[in-house]
Amino acid sequence: MIAVGLSLLDQESTAPCDMFRRVHNEEYILFARKGLPLSQGLAENLRENAVSALYIEPAEGDAYFQCLKNLTEQAVADSKEKPERKAQIVYSSCKEILRQVFDDPRASFIHLAMDIIAPTMDLIVTDDVATRCLIKLTDYDQQTYTHSTNVGIFGIALARNYYGQKAEKELKAFGAGFFLHDLGKCRIPLSIINKPGPLTPQERLIVNRHPEDGYKILQENGVMTEELKCLTLQHHERDDGGGYPYGLTRQDIHPYARICRLVDIYEALTSERPYHRRSSTFDTLKLMKEKLVVDMEPSLFEHFVRLFLT
Ligand SMILES: [Fe+2]
Repeated sequence: MIAVGLSLLDQESTAPCDMFRRVHNEEYILFARKGLPLSQGLAENLRENAVSALYIEPAEGDAYFQCLKNLTEQAVADSKEKPERKAQIVYSSCKEILRQVFDDPRASFIHLAMDIIAPTMDLIVTDDVATRCLIKLTDYDQQTYTHSTNVGIFGIALARNYYGQKAEKELKAFGAGFFLHDLGKCRIPLSIINKPGPLTPQERLIVNRHPEDGYKILQENGVMTEELKCLTLQHHERDDGGGYPYGLTRQDIHPYARICRLVDIYEALTSERPYHRRSSTFDTLKLMKEKLVVDMEPSLFEHFVRLFLT
């Protein structure tokens, strides 16, 4: 079974396929038959009972996420929809499709992710109020798909803020790269991702393979673009040559890969991880300025700080 979030309930959609609740480890009961109206009330009821996911048959995955995509596009295009609600819809839709992509990175899901990211990006570059709502919505847990959603939002917002309107055209090609930069992490064993203590040198080597693994996954699925290649491969490179996997230096690192690294560091430090407690926005920005992004041009970091001031 495929685990899905409660986005369609929050969006008051109708069930695009039969949806199930898990009652025991591998036992499921029908929650909503295909065509049944879904409601926020149902979602609230589930959350009150600590249920955050429903389940669908694997064969229904494409239909389900296609429905999520259509609703996301409609919400962003609807001039009467409030920015707060648009932000909620795109945030939960991005998280849901990225959860699926990290679980099963096949071409059809990666394409659907790109289709859901496209209106999200349009919203960020055109609607400052909705972007502020999105930044406030970013929540922090240990899941790679949550991290990727947050990096996507911060990355696009920073590129838009730093380069202004001229970035809008480029972002159409680069936007998905911010969300998919860590795709290779789906090949890292969970025992390493969730390890509470320091990694062994061997484990560190496995983790450091994820930029190249992400590149390979996109290549194998026939969805590679120059922009995706650039962000997956270069988001851990440092201007001073101390990064990985290739130890590139400033002139060889794409400016958007630098942006991706900056927001990636912020997101990692402000998230709860097995090996550290999350730190506050203020403490994280202070640490980044003093120690972690000293190889970057200061003006880029200053623009990043401004995202939290508006
Ligand atoms: Fe990474």
